[in-house]
Amino acid sequence: MQKEKLQDYIFPKNFYWGAATASHQVEGNNHNDWTEWEKSEKRVKDLKSSGLVNKHGLDNFVSGRSADHYNKYKEDFKLAKELGHNATRFSIEWSRIEPEEGKFNQKAIDHYKDVIKTLKELDIEPFVTLWHWPIPIWLRDKGGLKSSEMPKYFVRYAKKVVEVLGDDVKFWIVLNEPEVNTGMGYMLGIWPPQKKNILQYFRVTYNLMKAHKLTYREIKKINPKAQIGIAKQNVSFSLKKNTPVNRIIRCLANFYWNHVWLCSLKKYQDFIGLNHYFHCVVDYGLYKNDFKIVNDLGWEIWPTSLYECLKDLEKYNKPVYITENGLADAKDEKRTWFIYEMLKGVHKAIEEGIDVKGYLHWSLMDNFEWAEGYWPRFGLIEIDYDTLERKPRKSAYFYRDICIHNGIVVSTVDKYKKEIEKFS
Ligand code: FCB
Repeated sequence: MQKEKLQDYIFPKNFYWGAATASHQVEGNNHNDWTEWEKSEKRVKDLKSSGLVNKHGLDNFVSGRSADHYNKYKEDFKLAKELGHNATRFSIEWSRIEPEEGKFNQKAIDHYKDVIKTLKELDIEPFVTLWHWPIPIWLRDKGGLKSSEMPKYFVRYAKKVVEVLGDDVKFWIVLNEPEVNTGMGYMLGIWPPQKKNILQYFRVTYNLMKAHKLTYREIKKINPKAQIGIAKQNVSFSLKKNTPVNRIIRCLANFYWNHVWLCSLKKYQDFIGLNHYFHCVVDYGLYKNDFKIVNDLGWEIWPTSLYECLKDLEKYNKPVYITENGLADAKDEKRTWFIYEMLKGVHKAIEEGIDVKGYLHWSLMDNFEWAEGYWPRFGLIEIDYDTLERKPRKSAYFYRDICIHNGIVVSTVDKYKKEIEKFS
């Protein structure tokens, strides 16, 4: 470890500590536009021709049973509690609640009621996401997110969910990373529905913004005290050389990527949900990083990046909840150090006046990482996909100590010195 003075980093009272998941990634056996896409001829052909099937096997790319969290949520939340968490973020699967247009499935509603009840009984605060990307098949067949009716359909679904589940939920995250989903699905054409169509990209962006605003109003009508936001994935940008051109590039990229959604929805957010994974070095272009320390997906880890993103949110003057932050690290080599560095940054941002109120690590458990499939391991808890056995990784116990002490204390750092020093 560099000659850093060891000290305690204590967080504000009532800070939320926990982890996040998303329905499609952990529940298993969903039926939505993604599950259909995963098995589609085009997708399978693409995977085969890119050599990815040879590398990971076809099953890697089909969500299937996943971690079976739909059936094992009680066990999983009990484990979260044992790991010191006092908050959990999860998402409601639209295709389960409304498998047919306009028909709500009581069994699915009862399921999520019990999910929330289970969390409440454990004294774990639920942060509930209404849309974490997949959509029901009937909506896909009506044009999906680009349909002009989409905002109306979304609000009908959201209203129903909040009416039936809202009593015990204070925090609603209406949309997860809409900018990522629209970019991947409608601009880069990598995710369903695999379009490369700029007009559709803007159409979908417009629809999702409209859906969010309408939903915000509906939730407030049902429960004026509800706290509502989106989860926005912000990138920290730094300059290789401080030249005027680089500064302009950074300014434009930062505005386009980090602020368009947050500015447009400023009046419709009680808090900012910050998801954070990426750091981008600007050098007459983007992502000119050295990639010195990377996670298993090759994403660079930049110890101060979360701090930088938090500082960049200052102008909104709103409470911030870190709704995702984590890394793919199958061997659990870097996770302890990563959490340590990221949380030091959060602490510093708080000291400098940013109102950060919670940290939800991505992810509670290993899961289906979208187009990458199962091989990336983001979990604090390791999942054996054959036996469904759950096993907390060592870093989960490091994080537990932090949750329990409401901060990073010297004795914890001492205990995990070896893991922390490896990369410092
Ligand atoms: C985020 C997603 C989340 C997960 C992480 C690794 O962009 O919101 O579902 O896949 O990346």
